[in-house]
Amino acid sequence: MTAQRPLKVSSAPAGLAGRVRVPGDKSISHRALMFAALAEGRTHISGLLEGEDVLRTAEAMRALGAKVVREEGRWIVDGCGVDGLKEPADVLDMGNSGTAARLLSGVLATHPFMSIMTGDASLRSRPMGRVSVPLGEMGARFVTRAGQKLPMAVEGTGKGKPLHYRLPVASAQVKSAILLAGLNCEGETVVEEPAPTRDHTENMLRHFGTEVKVEELPGAGRRITLKGPARLVAQDVLVPGDPSSAAFPVVAALLVPGSEIVVEAVGQNPLRTGLFKTLKEMGASLEVRDERIEGGEVIGDLHVRAGRLKAVDVPAVRVPSMIDEYPVLAVACAFAEGTSRLRGLAELRVKESDRLAATVALLEANGAKVHVEGDDLIIEGQKTLPGGGKVQTHMDHRLAMSATVLGLAAEKPVHIDDTAFIETSFPGFVSLMNGLGAGVEA
Ligand code: S3P
Repeated sequence: MTAQRPLKVSSAPAGLAGRVRVPGDKSISHRALMFAALAEGRTHISGLLEGEDVLRTAEAMRALGAKVVREEGRWIVDGCGVDGLKEPADVLDMGNSGTAARLLSGVLATHPFMSIMTGDASLRSRPMGRVSVPLGEMGARFVTRAGQKLPMAVEGTGKGKPLHYRLPVASAQVKSAILLAGLNCEGETVVEEPAPTRDHTENMLRHFGTEVKVEELPGAGRRITLKGPARLVAQDVLVPGDPSSAAFPVVAALLVPGSEIVVEAVGQNPLRTGLFKTLKEMGASLEVRDERIEGGEVIGDLHVRAGRLKAVDVPAVRVPSMIDEYPVLAVACAFAEGTSRLRGLAELRVKESDRLAATVALLEANGAKVHVEGDDLIIEGQKTLPGGGKVQTHMDHRLAMSATVLGLAAEKPVHIDDTAFIETSFPGFVSLMNGLGAGVEA
């Protein structure tokens, strides 16, 4: 990552207005590149997120032997088959991206060679045991730093042993890592999740021609079954706009008085839209119009109008469908009428930063009343926030964008220590916000 990029964000000069498109979905983009590299034949990917995280995945797939090129705005990948990747000549650097590191661990686990993975200081502090333990049971060997942190050496097996695994935490990354490893196993790999998590891996397995069975379990969980060894056949992929990125202009437009915006072509996968559901419960004027299917994904245009929000109580079962949206939801709650409770946020502690602590610090620095009870975040809303805080983003893109949104709606300017990491998921974020009238000076 380049030098630090501090930013001062003052309240928006007037209401935000206009129509915008956010970059491609990060989860789908990582998977599109990995699946294409494991497929037989040539895949064209349109709308790929060209953020730093996804570019790391592209680079890793190249280092593992797939041909990956960008041509006239599209990405073209010539795949190697589910067991056809080659030993990389150097360390694989996954930058800031937990998704890239965890999903790739699954791919590497059932390839018979040695590789070493590392990342930036944020990624090197995140737990990898959640993937190395189950993947170890499939036959791979992992050597990590203390606390199961990167750098990590992976000695993959050839054909792996299929695994029947119940996820201890509802994590799409862990589910996906096991399914990716299962592609090159002899027999049925079964993953049970305690609550439904984003199903882009399952959808993409089907899109690339592999059968995957999904069953509902008693309670909220699901069981996913994949029969290996599987064959993936190259398919073109159209990546929809990322709902997790759309969250920032959407919440900004709700909070800055007089705003009216449209965010076009945003993915509407129900396992990703928990924030929009929650904002509607808060009384937001937020409508999805013109729902349509593009490239196998439901997309729609989000029409948003500013207005006073009321407090909300978000159940823990909703966490996986909005896991990345809590910092910006917390900002919305700080401006809402009444006291909000966001339940069951333990997983936020192991994101790009300790997002629970960082969100509390962001709000407190700007005059909001907030505290943590167990794994719940409680926010007492106010009509307006004083702002004027100095915000530390801890190498976390979503913290930087949430702080920007807060600054646009607060009374005094917010000083953000570093916005460089926004490039990992939302290149062009500040110019997009300025296009809507945010008036942020870089
Ligand atoms: C992701 C899953 C989530 C999410 C991350 C992307 C994915 O992580 O926070 O940004 O693409 O599978 P967990 O599955 O670890 O909760």
